Amino acid sequence: MALRPVLQFPDPLLKRKSVPVETVTQELRQLAADMIEVMYDEPGIGLAAPQVGEAVRMIVLDTEWTEEGNDRNPVVMVNPEIVAREGSALSNEGCLSVPDFNADVERAQKVRVRGTDLDGNPIEEEVEDLRAFCFQHEIDHLDGILFIDRISRLKRSMYVKKRKKALRLEEEEGGGAAAL
Ligand code: NI
Repeated sequence: MALRPVLQFPDPLLKRKSVPVETVTQELRQLAADMIEVMYDEPGIGLAAPQVGEAVRMIVLDTEWTEEGNDRNPVVMVNPEIVAREGSALSNEGCLSVPDFNADVERAQKVRVRGTDLDGNPIEEEVEDLRAFCFQHEIDHLDGILFIDRISRLKRSMYVKKRKKALRLEEEEGGGAAAL
């Protein structure tokens, strides 16, 4: 089966606020499996449900794996929230939904995250640096926030301009046709 496409800026679906998961259905389990597949395929180290068009509070991440062969150890977190934050650090970020761009974002250096797994078991992790940045970035997606909403207005508007131009070019070249 084809992988789910990742929505890209400025898709308005990325701006929706996601709703909490109340029951873990078979569909939700399938969504989690699909998201993990997309994350490794892209490749990325994290993905939030709204990026594949589902406005539910679920994220997947794996900050350890590498394409060269580090073990895959995906975490699925349902209804994740940050319950404590400490310090601040600059995180150089990109996003599968924000093509061809990265920038420094100010994040908490250390956070405590809480949520559940797909069986309703509580998960609580105290994380720092890259893993902490990743949780903050993915949880932002659930609130309709992209990392470009956390950079200076000037940098953001430069990116928006560049992105619109790229989209126009794609259109002129007949984007949307099957890639061969
Ligand atoms: Ni992202």
